[in-house]
Order: sequence, then structure tokens, then C-alpha cells
Amino acid sequence: MPASGSPSLTAPPLDVDAIRADFPALHQTLYDGRPLVYLDNAATSQKPQVVIDRVRDFYARENSNIHRGVHYLSQQATEAYEQARETVRRFLNARRRTEIVFTRGTTESINLVAATFGRSRLERGDEIVVSAMEHHSNIVPWQMLCQERGARLRVIPVDDRGELDEEAYRRLLTERTKLVALCHVSNTLGTINPVQRMIADAHGLGIPVLLDGAQAAPHLPVDVQALDCDFYCFSGHKVFGPTGIGILYGKEALLDAMPPWQGGGDMIETVSFERTTFNELPHKFEAGTPHIAGGIGLKAALDYVEARGRTALARHEDALLAYATERLTAIEGLHLIGTAREKTSVLSFVLDGIHPYDAGTLLDRLGIAVRTGHHCTQPLMQRFGLPGTIRASLAFYNTTDDVDALVDGLHRVRSLLA
Ligand code: ALA
Repeated sequence: MPASGSPSLTAPPLDVDAIRADFPALHQTLYDGRPLVYLDNAATSQKPQVVIDRVRDFYARENSNIHRGVHYLSQQATEAYEQARETVRRFLNARRRTEIVFTRGTTESINLVAATFGRSRLERGDEIVVSAMEHHSNIVPWQMLCQERGARLRVIPVDDRGELDEEAYRRLLTERTKLVALCHVSNTLGTINPVQRMIADAHGLGIPVLLDGAQAAPHLPVDVQALDCDFYCFSGHKVFGPTGIGILYGKEALLDAMPPWQGGGDMIETVSFERTTFNELPHKFEAGTPHIAGGIGLKAALDYVEARGRTALARHEDALLAYATERLTAIEGLHLIGTAREKTSVLSFVLDGIHPYDAGTLLDRLGIAVRTGHHCTQPLMQRFGLPGTIRASLAFYNTTDDVDALVDGLHRVRSLLA
């Protein structure tokens, strides 16, 4: 289907064919030979060959433990892992490498902050502010912490477009607020929250802010110094890197003041049965042998994205979002959930009279991978009065052909199920 005459729908200036050639998973057929149309990037993204090769090469030739050995391989592995940390620092524009902690993913990063910063600061009657569009991983750790401490979770409401009510947010900020924990981008709605403004509001009252960047890092340039956030979390597997590796950025003064979380090797300076002293940042928060190959693979993924140009990739996704929005909203009985003015390329929708799960199952038989259900945002689904949605989430390797395949698939779903 050709794009309409609107300038936003003209062909994006990116060599998408060349990019797609880098991602082997995109070139496969499913079931009865249908080409895969992968539109579940918010759940996890596919990996370029350079990432796959980097991880394979590490295990094939370089495998060794880090920070422990005097031997050649251990030194090489240590250097590669610490270079990966430097790449992440650059990716986020953090001030120092010591502010970058490797974790298993966004969920673990948030749990780390809850268990250390949260436990050491929260007292009875205190409050943590989250929003109604948070992923469960940015709700449940705070809820558990609040239960333990006798504190309270306060929730910023979201309007019908899927935008946060900033007035209500400002009213929620009081001397009782000990932390604001917000998604930079909503995984279900695609909303890009006005985090810079919201951080400034919180800081005006001396309240630190944690950003869940799991859905932002794959799509937007992120500058933690410009944002001035206190913590930023993201996951490797959503930025075209391996699973099981993630990042916690924290301002050095905050990380320094926080007690360690997990105990074990590497996070200590000295151990005796009487007393343990802890390692310096960031190792204080990295107990045990980490996901070394994951960190090194993440570096390859971030290098890949940087080499392609984050702004050019984002521009392509914006054009694709505009195209997909126009085509999807032309389908009778389809309602988009999440129409914020600032959005990434996530399209959540429902179809009149058709359960999302049934639609997802039929689309799958056509080779089209979308996510259906509550997307780990049950409170948001309750807010919209829905059991779930169908979610197509686009990455820079997606094309207007992929969107057209989805639209054709949805017509098929409607003709069979409506
Ligand atoms: N958080 C991921 C998603 O939105 C898994 O699908």
C-alpha cells in the first residue's frame, strides 16, 4: 500500500533493507511458509549479527571470569567488560563510569533501588509517587517496600489520550514524598512522558526521581545529565542486545550513600567473620560472577545503534508510526488506546467484538507477531476498562510493508471473527 501524500508519510531516509540484512531472525518463514512480520519489539527486539557474533566469539575464545585473574584471558575479559561499561556511560551520557551498574535488567535495577535506597530512606507515613501507566516492575517493588515500611504509594492519573495529569502530579508532591518512580516511555501506550519537567518539579522539593527507561532507550537518545534524573534503568534485550543484562544508572553521591544489596564475591573489599568492608562503585552492587557475555554483547548492540545514528533511526520510526496510525485508524471498529501527542512507535488497540487474544492468535497464524493482553500494566487496563489490547510495537528495522501486512491481517481477523 503506497503512502498517502502527507509529508510525514514519505519514505524515511534510512536504508532499511541494509539494516534488515543485519538481523537474521527477520528472514524466516513460519507455519506454511509465511514470512515472519515481527511487531513485538516492546517485549524484546531482534539481534543484529554483530551481537550474535560477539557473544559467540566471547564464549569461543575469550571466556574467562573477570576482576579475579592475573592470567591473560581474565585480563582480556575484564577489559572487554569494563569497555562495555564505558560504552553504556557514553550511551546515557553519564558523568562517570562508576555510575553504571550492570544488573539482569530493568526489573532488577528497580528492585535494587527499592532494596537499598528505599529501605534505607523510607519511614512510616512516607510516600512514593508512581504513575497509572507503570509496568508492574515499577509498581510492585515499591508496593512491597511500602508494605514493609508502613509507607504509601501515590498514583499520578492518566487521561483518555494516555497522557499524565501534570497538575495532579504536582499536587501529589509533598514533604512526605521520598521518591518519584516514572516510566520515561509507556510500554503499553507509547506515551513519552514530559520527564524533564516532572524531574524539575520533584527536584524543586528535593525529591529524587527514578526513570524506567526500558521502552525509551531503544527509541530515543537519552542524556541522564540533561534530564538530571537520579536513577535510570534499561534492559539490554530491548536495545538489540542479549537477554539477562541490564543497567542501573545512579548519581554517584546517591549510589555511594546506598548500602549494598546482594552479598558475595566481587562486591567486597575485605571479609572476616567479624566484619566485611565493601568494594568501591560500581562493584559494591555487583555481587557474584556477572553476565559477562551479556555485557560485552550489549556493547556490540549499543555500538551498532550508535553507528546507524540514533536520530536517523528515531526519524524512521516516527514516520512509520504516522503511517501505521493512519492505516490502522482507517479500519472499521478499531480503536487506538494511547494517542498521546508525544509517542514512540507503539500501537495498542482493540477491535469491536473481538477478544485481543483471539486476534493475536489469528495474526500469529498469518506470521504476524504482536503481543496481546495486559502487557504487565493491569492498573492501566483497569483505568481504560479493558481486559487487554492488541499491541504492535515497531523497531527501526520495520517497514511500511510490515504495517501493510498487519492491516491486511486485521481485515482478515475482522472478516473471520467480527
Ligand atoms: N515489558 C515487556 C513488554 O512490554 C515485556 O512487553
